Amino acid sequence: MNDPKQELIRLQTMTEAFLSEQFTASEPWERLLEAMRYSLLSGGKRLRPVLCMAFCQAAGGKPEDALPAAAAVELIHTYSLIHDDLPCMDNDDYRRGRLTNHKVYGEDLATLAGDALQAAAFRLLSELDAPPEHALRCVSILAGAAGENGMVAGQVLDMEGETRSLSEQELRNVHRHKTGDMIRAACQMGAVLGGGSRSQVECAGSFGLHLGMAFQIRDDMLDCMGSQEELGKPIGSDQARGKSTFVTLFGLDACQVLVEQETAEALAALEQGSFSDVSFLKYLANSLTERRK
Ligand code: IPE
Ligand code: IPE
Ligand code: MG
Ligand code: MG
Ligand code: MG
Repeated sequence: MNDPKQELIRLQTMTEAFLSEQFTASEPWERLLEAMRYSLLSGGKRLRPVLCMAFCQAAGGKPEDALPAAAAVELIHTYSLIHDDLPCMDNDDYRRGRLTNHKVYGEDLATLAGDALQAAAFRLLSELDAPPEHALRCVSILAGAAGENGMVAGQVLDMEGETRSLSEQELRNVHRHKTGDMIRAACQMGAVLGGGSRSQVECAGSFGLHLGMAFQIRDDMLDCMGSQEELGKPIGSDQARGKSTFVTLFGLDACQVLVEQETAEALAALEQGSFSDVSFLKYLANSLTERRK
């Protein structure tokens, strides 16, 4: 295995190159494409695409085999961020180091840019160069993770946390859906496209859910202790809306313990999968426990 830092840059660069080729046609609705590209190409960490390609590799495939699926999950993720920032949701002004989509393009076009990104994600899956049954499983995994039993469900539960304090179990449910499901989908689609066995796909899913839990708890912590400069998004956003989060429930120190516990569980699930080489995935999971952005 390459140096994991180099591997991360390689997978991120592949993602950037693929995404930058999307939505370039010059059409009468050019401003829609511009709004889509504005958020898509503003430098996220590309965690979900990287996981998707890394699992494809761990299951025996080449990372590029999973590139359209990796991009698809990033399109849905980007749409979810555009909508998450809207005044009717978290009402945030900055994302990925720049003004939020609606601040530049207006709420109407921002909403529609999100809608179009979601549809395009499924077009990309339909264009996968993979056995049809693998492509179809990816459609099912991504649709399930994004929709009414996945990320959108999590966002709805998250909104409830603005009007009453949620219990630990309720918060776990919010995090599992709003963040865990999309990370799970990225891992599972990669494992499917790499030709992984049923049990490997299951282990990839379990890894993704635990990693997603750790990732969102750390996100809640960064909302209190991060810096806008590093994060590219405002801090204090959850507090401003009086949201129930892991930090309001347990405080920062206990949250860090939970981040480490969930990461350890993710790594245990990874071991169960008997993948060929998981050193990069281990490195990535561990590095996220201390992330500042
Ligand atoms: C932000 O996701 C929203 C959450 C689910 C916590 P990321 O922290 O992955 O954001 P980007 O893609 O790097 O901007
Ligand atoms: C958002 O969670 C998760 C999504 C589905 C977009 P947050 O609202 O905590 O994400 P940030 O902090 O705005 O990135
Ligand atoms: Mg939110
Ligand atoms: Mg938000
Ligand atoms: Mg947050």
